[in-house]
Amino acid sequence: MTGQARIIDGKAAAAALRAEIATEVAALTTSGRPAPGLHVVLVGEDPASRVYVGSKEKQAVEVGMASVVHRMPAETGEAELLAKVAAFNADPAVDGILVQLPLPKHIDVDKVIEAIDPAKDVDCFHPVNVGRLAAGQGKLIPCTPLGAMLLLKQVLPSLAGLEAVVIGRSGIVGRPMAQLLVQADCTVTIAHSRTRDLPEVLRRADIVVAAVGRPHFVKGAWIKPGATVIDVGINRLPDGKLAGDVDYAEALTVAGAITPVPGGVGPMTIACLLRNTLTAYRERRG
Ligand code: GUN
Repeated sequence: MTGQARIIDGKAAAAALRAEIATEVAALTTSGRPAPGLHVVLVGEDPASRVYVGSKEKQAVEVGMASVVHRMPAETGEAELLAKVAAFNADPAVDGILVQLPLPKHIDVDKVIEAIDPAKDVDCFHPVNVGRLAAGQGKLIPCTPLGAMLLLKQVLPSLAGLEAVVIGRSGIVGRPMAQLLVQADCTVTIAHSRTRDLPEVLRRADIVVAAVGRPHFVKGAWIKPGATVIDVGINRLPDGKLAGDVDYAEALTVAGAITPVPGGVGPMTIACLLRNTLTAYRERRG
């Protein structure tokens, strides 16, 4: 039996979320309140980071936020970056602080993340926010897993009782994704590079979230017919094209619904960053 999976349109969902956020920001500013302030720090010249940061700035401005990108040279010292973060922590006009990763090797990433005020940590990378999320008390939610959850809920209004397999155990995607799925009452398995028989693990999965960073890693034959597939991978192929972690052409004939790459989870990530910035604003300023 071959069919055609429903294609989950992340671009449209992200546009709708941004429109919602823009409406909320406009309501704030027309009532005389300040716009939420998002401050992004980019250290060095990593080409992919420059593109991401440019998109974050553009979209933040489009929804009416006060967005500032602070571009610092690759030689910036750790102390200088920490001083910058401390200044943002102390500035009441700053609602969200995002330090773009990766950082140059001479800077201790953990130290920088831990220096960010958890109330302004819109990436949700600070250990306090990671702990709150694990405890089910998270107000700020990591952007990519939040985007993936919002797309899942478009297809599956109730996730309760479903079997979900998250492939990948990174702190940014895999682990928080598993937390969110558990909180949505899924039965969750986290698979990773040491998992013994992934096709066997996937056989019962109603939901597959692929976050491994290897193009076309998940084969169509591994997917349970009718499953919902969320592909978090964004891999650059030698020909310059983007590919997800799932063999999309194969999966399309087996899955019930699937996110494309590009145009799936990717666009949701920045929209969710803006959502977190607004959440941080409301938590701090009411
Ligand atoms: N680099 C790639 N993705 C991200 C992200 O979501 N946040 C930060 N801070 N850096 C990144």
